[in-house]
Amino acid sequence: MQLPKQVQIKEVGPRDGLQNEMTFISTEEKIKLVNRLSDTGLNYIEVTSFVHPKWIPQLADAVEVLKEIKRNNDVTYAALVPNGKGLERALDADVDEVSVFMSASEGHNKSNINKSIDETFPVLKEVIDGALAAGKTVRGYISTVISCPYDGYTKPEQVVYVAEKLFDMGISEISLGDTIGVGVPTQVDALLQEMLRHFKAEQLAMHFHDTRGTALANVMTSLTHGITKFDSAIGGLGGCPYAKGASGNVATEDLLYLLHGMGIDTGVNLKKIQQTALSLEGIVGKKLSSKMVAIARGEEESCQIS
Ligand code: HMG
Ligand code: MG
Repeated sequence: MQLPKQVQIKEVGPRDGLQNEMTFISTEEKIKLVNRLSDTGLNYIEVTSFVHPKWIPQLADAVEVLKEIKRNNDVTYAALVPNGKGLERALDADVDEVSVFMSASEGHNKSNINKSIDETFPVLKEVIDGALAAGKTVRGYISTVISCPYDGYTKPEQVVYVAEKLFDMGISEISLGDTIGVGVPTQVDALLQEMLRHFKAEQLAMHFHDTRGTALANVMTSLTHGITKFDSAIGGLGGCPYAKGASGNVATEDLLYLLHGMGIDTGVNLKKIQQTALSLEGIVGKKLSSKMVAIARGEEESCQIS
């Protein structure tokens, strides 16, 4: 099997993970979480999002969190930005990288950002121009690349259409989101075959939600296509409140176990991530669903390998 030797993990737990938590987590706890993650070997953390606080009340403290974290020079601190107003707030908080986002499907795009796909491009263009002028790099998310909870299955050609527009505006990378976690390897394979006819593997990252337990299988398929960047969330937290049926991202610790077990280097310390995930259980007030946090909890000691 041809696999890459090195993979970059983009930790999205503080944003994608926490945005789906209904009970407000204090600003202090969010800052502590990011600080702890900054000391695990991760070199990319999506800290928060500058969306409208009415839409995502959990992340209303975005400016404060980003301003008060202890920055590690080896880490890029990113945040979601939906529009010009969000960019103003993100630049005020000195974000390192701006992440714009939209969907491949009309139904989710409208539900999530209140605009049609074609109405969204000029809004994102303003954000991208402003961010680049301020010396920031810009990443783009395309959601619902496999299927949409409102419109059904997404054609790979539609993902290519949106990706071409975003790359033309000057973004450096696109993260392809299976927002509701329905995808299976054959679908990911079909999507990547089409995407890789137009773009290089280095321009793409994958963002799998694990609603049906297929995220790691989809990671494997992506690796065989030469993809080397994956988004994941500590503890497997996550979900989009504007996508019916969406649940957590692939858990960082489970992804690390898979990659390290296959001899793929990430630079991230699995033990430290597990311990951070365990401490997060006390903050979100529930047991986290990942396999490797269960191992850390000692519940599955009989399954441990030395
Ligand atoms: P809207 O209501 O259409 O906004 O929301 P608007 O432009 O009409 O403005 C209305 C008011 O909101 C104005 O105030 C604006 O200033 C204010 P007024 O003049 O009435 O006093 N406003 C803002 N205030 C603070 N920050 C802002 C902002 N923007 C406008 N940024 C909007 C449009 C995009 C803002 C809204 O729909 C929104 O915030 N949506 C975000 C939803 C969201 O965060 N979803 C989850 C993230 S996406 C995701 O999880 C998927 C991903 O993980 C990948 C995957 O899994 O596929 C990335
Ligand atoms: Mg997501």
